[in-house]
Amino acid sequence: MSTAATNYGGSASAIAYHYDVGRAFYALWLDDTLSYSCALWPDASAGGELRDAQLAKIRLHLDAAHVQEGSNVLDIGCGWGALLQLACLERRAARATGLTLSHDQFDYVSALGLPHADVRLEHWADHEPEARYDSIVSVGAFEHFASPEDSDTQKIALYADFFRRCRDWLTPDGRLSLQTIAYGTMKRSEASAFINNEIFPSADLPTFEEIVKSTQDLFEITSVVNHRLHYARTLECWARNLAKRREQAVQLVGEAVTSRYERYLKQSAIGFHMGKIGLLRLALRPITGRWKHDARW
Ligand SMILES: C[S@@+](CC[C@H](N)C(=O)[O-])C[C@H]1O[C@@H](n2cnc3c(N)ncnc32)[C@H](O)[C@@H]1O
Repeated sequence: MSTAATNYGGSASAIAYHYDVGRAFYALWLDDTLSYSCALWPDASAGGELRDAQLAKIRLHLDAAHVQEGSNVLDIGCGWGALLQLACLERRAARATGLTLSHDQFDYVSALGLPHADVRLEHWADHEPEARYDSIVSVGAFEHFASPEDSDTQKIALYADFFRRCRDWLTPDGRLSLQTIAYGTMKRSEASAFINNEIFPSADLPTFEEIVKSTQDLFEITSVVNHRLHYARTLECWARNLAKRREQAVQLVGEAVTSRYERYLKQSAIGFHMGKIGLLRLALRPITGRWKHDARW
């Protein structure tokens, strides 16, 4: 990894700490697409299968980013590749590039042999596209970009750097679809030490205001929703799945790691229920010279 990314949170070691616990462990409690982010439920309070809700979430982002036949797509934080699969196989994208910092995810997605997909073990700050993208999607990665040590000003500068790159990488008619957890009623100073130290080290959440400030002059936010109850429900599903396969989990990763994940899933679900944290899904349209200065606007 080159130096561009070394000043940013989401370092390879912090990501490895969380994601390289072992795919077999995550496979015990995620759905079989290995989607590891908030699903989209028909009703956040009842009904529906986790797998269907994860696929619905992916299709929502593919639609928001206008992914269609022939599109050139970038997935920043591609996880175990579920969105890349739908982009390539269902939408028939011409090319789908995925970035991850996890070795396990990189190996897994590379082995899928998806047509027209290119997965890279690369920080977004090191990414150099070969051509402009029609669509950029980022689901559940933004939470890793800033670290608790960053000042408020540094955080906004870092996010603005991310949005500036995305804007420059997109075609003028391109779209960005972003999903991230954000602080809700909870302030940064009140964040859980357990989550910060033992689950997601070196990571810090954005606030909605920080996202608005850092997109200024770069993107128009065309839609935003807070689906916090959808995340509460997703976490409750994951916790139930883990409880059902607890013995296998302990055999794989030990009692301490299993208990740590049980606590993290339950505590996060409560945080979403109470509104301490929110789940933002944003659709963004790049502000380019072409329409920024168009007299019709
Ligand atoms: C919570 S997972 C979400 C994965 C996937 N989008 C999903 O919904 O299942 C976060 C992903 O972001 C990636 N990630 C975090 N920080 C990153 C960075 N700075 N550059 C590239 N990928 C990053 C991680 O490697 C991981 O693949």
